[in-house]
Amino acid sequence: MRRYCGSLRKKDVGKDVVVKGWVQRTRNLGALVFADIRDREGVVQIVGGKEVGALRPEWVVEIKGKVEEREVKNPSLSTGEIEIKVESMKVLSKAKIPPFHVLDEVDVSEEVRLRYRYIDLRRPRMQRNIILRHRMAMVARTYLDSLGFIEVETPILTKSTPEGARDFLVPSRNYKGKFYALPQSPQLFKQLLMISGLDRYFQLAKCFRDEDLRADRQPEFTQIDVEMSFPQEEQIIEITEGLLKEMFAASGINISVPFPQLTYREAMNRYGSDKPDLRIPYKIDDLTEMSMGGGNRIIEEVIYSGGKLLGMKIPNGLTRKEIDSLNSFIKELSGDGIFWLKIEDGIRGNLKGNEEWKEKLCDSLDLHKGDTAVFVAGKGIKELMGSLRVKAARIKGDVEEGMKFLWVRDFPLFELDSEGNLTSNHHPFTSPANEDVSILEREPLKALSRTYDVVLNGIELGGGGIRINDAELQRKILKILGIEESRFSFLIEALEHGAPPHGGIALGFDRIVMMAAGEESIRDVIAFPKTTSGLCLLTGTPSDVDKPQLRDLGIKITSS
Ligand code: AMO
Repeated sequence: MRRYCGSLRKKDVGKDVVVKGWVQRTRNLGALVFADIRDREGVVQIVGGKEVGALRPEWVVEIKGKVEEREVKNPSLSTGEIEIKVESMKVLSKAKIPPFHVLDEVDVSEEVRLRYRYIDLRRPRMQRNIILRHRMAMVARTYLDSLGFIEVETPILTKSTPEGARDFLVPSRNYKGKFYALPQSPQLFKQLLMISGLDRYFQLAKCFRDEDLRADRQPEFTQIDVEMSFPQEEQIIEITEGLLKEMFAASGINISVPFPQLTYREAMNRYGSDKPDLRIPYKIDDLTEMSMGGGNRIIEEVIYSGGKLLGMKIPNGLTRKEIDSLNSFIKELSGDGIFWLKIEDGIRGNLKGNEEWKEKLCDSLDLHKGDTAVFVAGKGIKELMGSLRVKAARIKGDVEEGMKFLWVRDFPLFELDSEGNLTSNHHPFTSPANEDVSILEREPLKALSRTYDVVLNGIELGGGGIRINDAELQRKILKILGIEESRFSFLIEALEHGAPPHGGIALGFDRIVMMAAGEESIRDVIAFPKTTSGLCLLTGTPSDVDKPQLRDLGIKITSS
C-alpha cells in the first residue's frame, strides 16, 4: 500500500509499504546504506544495500519494503522510531545536482529560491505554508457559506477600479487603441451584485496593482472580498472577527474577539499611525499646550506657527548611542532631529528651557528615575512620531510577543495627495458619515467616512466601509474629487435602479496567511510570487513579445 513517507510511525512496524518521493541524502556505512526519502508529509529513512548507495539527491524513487523499528532512534524526526528495509526500488526520475539542498536551514538567496521555485517549494517550511494557505482558504469558504454568503467570480478583464494604485492594462486586439484593466479589487462588481439582489457575496479574488512593492505587497495578490446588503458597521465587524478567529484556529492560533476599536483620530494621536502596533507599550503625548512659556524659543516658535510638541516615555531609559541612532533615524525621515530628557539625579538632556516646565513635562509623561523621554517639534509630525515609536521599541526590544488585533474606524473621507490634490482615503464609493454630508463641499478635509480597517501587529489586514447607495451623493463625491462622472456612469445608472444600503470589507489573504505562518514576507506564502521589483524569475516575466503580436494589437514600442 502506498503511504506518505512522513506518515509512518511505530505502529506500522511489520507492514509492507510502498513510498514514493525525493531522495534527500544517502549515508554509506559499508554493507548498509541509508537514505532519507521525502514527500509532502515528511522524511523517512530507508536502509538497503549498494543499490541505495547509487541514489543521488532529488532523484524520484519508488521504494517497496517492510517497516522496521530502528536501532538508533532520531527523536527530532516524527518518523524517527522506524525505517523501511528496502525489498525493491525503482528510480522514477533522475535529477541534476540541485542548486541548493532541500532543507529548511539552508541559507540561499531569494533570487536563487525564486528562480528554482519548484525546488524551493519542496522544503518542509514551504510545503507547510502552502498547505496552511489551502486550509485557511477552505475554512474561510466554509465559514462564509455557513452565514449565507455566496461566492461569485467577477471579471479579470475589466475597467479601471480605483484603489489608489496604477492599473495593469491589457490591450484589446479587436478594438485597437482600447484597453482592459486588470481589477485592483472587485469593488464595483460587488456593489453591482448587491444591486442585483444577491444580498451576501464573497470571493477569494485575485487583485492586481502596479505599485511599489514591499515585504507585504505583491503586484497580484488575493483578497477575501465580502459585501452585504442592509448592514450595520457592527455586523460586518463581527462577521470579520468570526472569520479571522476560524482562520487563525486552522493554524493552531487562538485569538480572542472582539478586537479593541479606536477611531482614526485616536490612533493617530496615541500612536502616530493608522495601523498601530499594539505590541509596543509606548504612547505619544501632546505637550503643546503646556509648552508656551517654557523658555524654549525654538519650540515656542514652532507652536506659534501652528506646530506641536509631541513626547513619548521610553521606560528604563535609552543610552546615548541609542538616542543618537534615533536622532539620525528622524533626520533621515526629513525631521529636524529629536529632543530628549532623562531622569537620573536630576533632569538631563538636550531639551533647553526652564526647570519648572521640564518638571511639568516629566510629570505629564509619568517619567521616573532611569526613564528617558523623546520629543519631536514641528508641523504634521504625528506620523514621524509614530515611526520613532516603532524604531525605539525595536532598539529597546520592547515589542511584546503575540497577536494584537484592533479596528481603526472613522477615517477621514478625503486626504491630500503628494501634489496637494483632494483624493479618497479609501475609495470614491465610500459613504461619508451621515452628519458630515453637509460639509462635503465646504470643508471636505473635515468630513469623516463610515470606514473600518482591521490591523494586526502594525500590519493592515483589511479594510472596508459602508458604500454610497444614492446616485446624487455619488455624483457629488466624484465631482469633489475631480473624477469624470462618465468613467463610472454604469455605477451611477445602477444606483438609480434600486440600490440597497450596502457595505463590506476586503481582507488581504496573503497577509493573513503570512501572519498565521509566522513568516515575515508574503512571498513565503505564495507559491509563485514576484520579486520586489515585480519580476517572475522562474518564467522570466515580464518578457518581450513577437513583433506580429504587437502589430495585431496596434502597438509600437518606442525607446524612451
Ligand atoms: P484595500 O485597498 O484596503 O481595500 O485592500 C484590502 C486589503 O488587501 C490587502 N492588499 C494587499 N495585499 C498584498 N499586496 C498588495 N499589493 C495589496 N494591496 C492591498 C491589504 C488590504 O488591507 N475594495 C476595498 C475593500 C472594500 O472597501 O471593501 C479594497 O480593496 O491587506
